[in-house]
Formats: sequence, structure tokens, C-alpha cells
Amino acid sequence: MSAPDLKIEAMRRRHLAAVERVELELSAIPWSRRLFLEEISRSGDRYYRVAFCRRELVGFIGMMWVADEAHITNLGVSKVAWGAGIGSRLLLDALGYASGAGIKDCTLEVRAGNLRAQRLYARFGFVAVGVRRAYYHDNDEDAIIMWAYDLASERERSRRAGIAAALEGEGKSD
Ligand SMILES: CC(C)(COP(=O)(O)OP(=O)(O)OC[C@H]1O[C@@H](n2cnc3c(N)ncnc32)[C@H](O)[C@@H]1OP(=O)(O)O)[C@@H](O)C(=O)NCCC(=O)NCCS
Repeated sequence: MSAPDLKIEAMRRRHLAAVERVELELSAIPWSRRLFLEEISRSGDRYYRVAFCRRELVGFIGMMWVADEAHITNLGVSKVAWGAGIGSRLLLDALGYASGAGIKDCTLEVRAGNLRAQRLYARFGFVAVGVRRAYYHDNDEDAIIMWAYDLASERERSRRAGIAAALEGEGKSD
């Protein structure tokens, strides 16, 4: 699947039924609709976006921050849409926003067994810096703690520009 006509916009209350469907499809410990609502109801330290492909909500990303440190709280792409660059575009959008807002570094937790997501994050400069043992209570899986540093640096800007250009190239060749 390709996503040439992907649109990313702010997550709103009206999106939450579809967001919840994607979350239930993906997560063994799904966020409730109420939690998403609480998150998007906060202003000033939250950034939540949804991705639409041909009018269908196919993914979302959430980010919070304290001072100049951000935390990716959630990221999901509906399975039928995996591999089309939607996760990458959502990350590009959120990290680009963070960089422009003066946020310096960004962290996240990812399941130790979730190599797909870890590869995605590594392409964006995230490095593994530690482990939270048995962090996920459904199966006691460890969480890998990853950080991306200096989001506004030339190095990170050009990394993101390279990813964006590659995605653009993929879209055009479809
Ligand atoms: C992790 C996740 C968000 C990735 O979303 P995605 O939309 O599939 O991500 P992308 O398409 O940008 O990148 C994934 C793969 O597709 C490939 N890809 C990206 N764009 C592509 C394109 N246009 N054509 C072909 N392949 C492409 C990438 O190279 C990447 O390959 P890899 O798996 O070998 O690293 C998604 O798998 C998901 O929702 N997983 C479950 C929830 C989850 O793990 N969330 C993260 C929790 S920390």
C-alpha cells in the first residue's frame, strides 16, 4: 500500500471512535477513548495528530513535553496500511513540530520484541539508552528506552529531510 494522498491533522474528539478502533487492533494494553480525550483536551504540552488516507483514519501519534524534553506517548498505524511510510510521516510531523517549538530531545518506550518500531525509531536517530524491566504488564515484556537528541541540530534536520525526500520519491513512483 502506498500513501500518496496522506493527510495529517490535529486529533479531535470526532476522530476518537476511529482512533480507538486502530488502538484496539494494535495494542495488548489499549488506551481508552477517555484517555485519548483527556490527552487532546490538554493544551500547551500535548501534540496529537491523526493520519487520513482516502478519508480513512489509518494512524495516529501522540507527544507530550516538559520543558525541552518530549515523550512520544503513542504511535499506531492500522495493519492494512503498514509499510507505506505512514508511521514515518507521523514521526516526521511530530519531531518537526517539536524541533520548531524549541524542544531539544525526545524519548519513548518500545517493547523489546517490537523490532519493527525500533527500526523505525532508529532511522529517526533514536538510540537505545536503557531498559525498564517487565514494563508491560500483559506479558511482563521489557521496555527499551530510546532517546533522540538535538532535534533542531543540522544533523537531525537533514536526517528528517532525507527521510521526507525518500518518502516523496516513493509516492511519486507509485
Ligand atoms: C511501528 C509502526 C507505527 C510503523 O508504522 P508504518 O506505517 O508501517 O511505518 P513505515 O511504513 O514508515 O515504516 C515501516 C517499514 O516500511 C518501510 N517503508 C516505509 N515507507 C515505504 C514505502 N513507501 N514503500 C515501501 N516500504 C516502505 C520502511 O522501510 C520500514 O521497513 P522496516 O520494517 O524494514 O524498517 C506500525 O507497525 C504499528 O503501528 N505497529 C504497532 C504499534 C506500535 O508498535 N507502535 C509503536 C509503539 S512504541
